[in-house]
Amino acid sequence: MESTVTDIRDSIGAIRDYPKPGIIFRDITPLLQDPDAFRSAIKLLKQRYSQLGITQIAAIEARGFIFGSALAYAMGCGVTLLRKPGKLPGKVVSQSYQLEYGSDQLEMHENALTMNDRVLIVDDLLATGGTVIAANQLITSLGADVIEAAFVVSLPELGGEDKLQQAGVACYTLCQF
Ligand code: PRP
Ligand code: ADE
Repeated sequence: MESTVTDIRDSIGAIRDYPKPGIIFRDITPLLQDPDAFRSAIKLLKQRYSQLGITQIAAIEARGFIFGSALAYAMGCGVTLLRKPGKLPGKVVSQSYQLEYGSDQLEMHENALTMNDRVLIVDDLLATGGTVIAANQLITSLGADVIEAAFVVSLPELGGEDKLQQAGVACYTLCQF
């Protein structure tokens, strides 16, 4: 059965005070366990992006790997991994950033992309935008074009969409909280 965007939104859990007091953690694990919601989320993203000449999906560790890989498989394009520090075996470029609940760093192989690549960034969730801004900096530093950044969930109160707009990165989210 098809799930609507409302069904997809309803399948996302909310855990209060995780991982820190005051945070409402939007949990995608029930969405992933619901075959209709998961398949429909990928189908909706595929409908939006399949005609745009995307060559690579840049998927952000860890939850972005799940949606990014499924979408790349559905669209028939490659997956470029943006990983947490020390995980990639080759020479990397790195970028640190702030999160809603801490700070972190992303890395990608320095030869992963070229100026011929048209890249869609995929992650599960947009909060402050720190992660995706770091991803955009890494990808553009290799000369590739970022066509858009796509998320299943965004938390507009945390300002990620505004930050992306200021940075000139187009973004799309399936549902908001
Ligand atoms: C979460 C989420 C996004 C990021 C969004 O990842 O999956 O990548 O936070 O936050 P931001 O918009 O404020 O940057 P997290 O770093 O918690 O890692 P995980 O996917 O490994 O759980
Ligand atoms: N990543 C950053 N903020 C988050 C939140 N509130 N829920 C789930 N993942 C997040």
